[in-house]
Amino acid sequence: MRTQIAIVGAGPAGLLLSHLLSLRGIESVIVENRSRAYVEARIRAGVLEQDTVDLLVDSGLGDRLKSQGLRHDGIHLQWPGERHRIDFHALTGRSVWIYGQTEVVKDLLGVRADAVHFEVTQTALHDVDSDRPSVSFVDRDGVAHVVEADIVVGADGFHGVSRPTIPAPLRRTWERDYPYGWLGILAEVPPSTDELIYAWHPRGFAMHSMRSPQLSRLYLQVDRAENVEDWSDDRIWDELRTRLGLDGWTLADGPIVDKGITPMRSFVSTPMRHGRLFLVGDAAHIVPPTGAKGLNLAVADVAVLTEALDAFFTERRTDLLDSYEERALRRVWRCTHFSWWMTSMLHTSGDDLDQQLQLAQLRYVCSSQAAATSLAENYVGLPHELARSGS
Ligand code: PHB
Repeated sequence: MRTQIAIVGAGPAGLLLSHLLSLRGIESVIVENRSRAYVEARIRAGVLEQDTVDLLVDSGLGDRLKSQGLRHDGIHLQWPGERHRIDFHALTGRSVWIYGQTEVVKDLLGVRADAVHFEVTQTALHDVDSDRPSVSFVDRDGVAHVVEADIVVGADGFHGVSRPTIPAPLRRTWERDYPYGWLGILAEVPPSTDELIYAWHPRGFAMHSMRSPQLSRLYLQVDRAENVEDWSDDRIWDELRTRLGLDGWTLADGPIVDKGITPMRSFVSTPMRHGRLFLVGDAAHIVPPTGAKGLNLAVADVAVLTEALDAFFTERRTDLLDSYEERALRRVWRCTHFSWWMTSMLHTSGDDLDQQLQLAQLRYVCSSQAAATSLAENYVGLPHELARSGS
């Protein structure tokens, strides 16, 4: 097989890249080790920045997003006895949208499924430091293939094979594993809140999010080693009611249809480019979910890389490929900081001094317009300006 771009991974980053390239007449082939059903069903993030929404709409993927996405102009921050609204729209003129990553992936598969080889095994990258890189894999019928390409893109997540293809002595990583994780549930009950609630509580962070007017998404900070089997539905609802509780407000419960524990990690690995291999999204960086940056960051990488690939294939220009890493990393580090900051402000560690510092910071963010604006402009997302010029 021969193509222009071989993409490893059919998550949102790989699929979006393939879609944006096809709009520019650039061919790509995607290999994915999971099944289509798995990729379409996995529950992940749910908040899209305005620029992410604009990019999806501009590329023809706006139909369901516009009819089913929920625009949100703010969030609630809370601690025992107090709930405050941070008004993003008033502070920044921008909003965010609730639309599950699962839905973004379904929309992308609607246009790109034909480019994907699902359920492949033994994926390996070859000769990425030459100008004839390739990807080999075995398809679900046991037949071995090689995709020869001009460029290989690793969009295969934190555990994927792409990043380790870069020789270890060339790689540098920055990493923090937090001692806690998020127990997340999806429940068939209308959300009990208009805006997302981020709640600090001495027993640990809790959050009320949503996926639709009928579907709530809620999270609890739990110990990293916690076992999901130890959390019955009743125990989860009791703990959510305690941590999210506020006089005069009640949390409605309902059947839990999905339950899982996600570890929390900050991670950045460079280089994001090695020869003809480019990394996007979780393959190069992970943020903890507080602040909902992961998917948006992957989309921003893809936007920057798309312009660079377009310049390469249409004009044989390499300058944008050469500056991809620097431009992507600037945003990666900004979001890594913001996600770490939100996480550190809201998750309890059991330390008394930390608790008072967190409460002091929360009170400041909720009472100072300058502090609230700083949170708001990071949450709604810094513009994709570099990526969008010339598109
Ligand atoms: C979600 O709805 O899954 C969600 C929302 C906001 C976050 C993290 C996750 O900060």
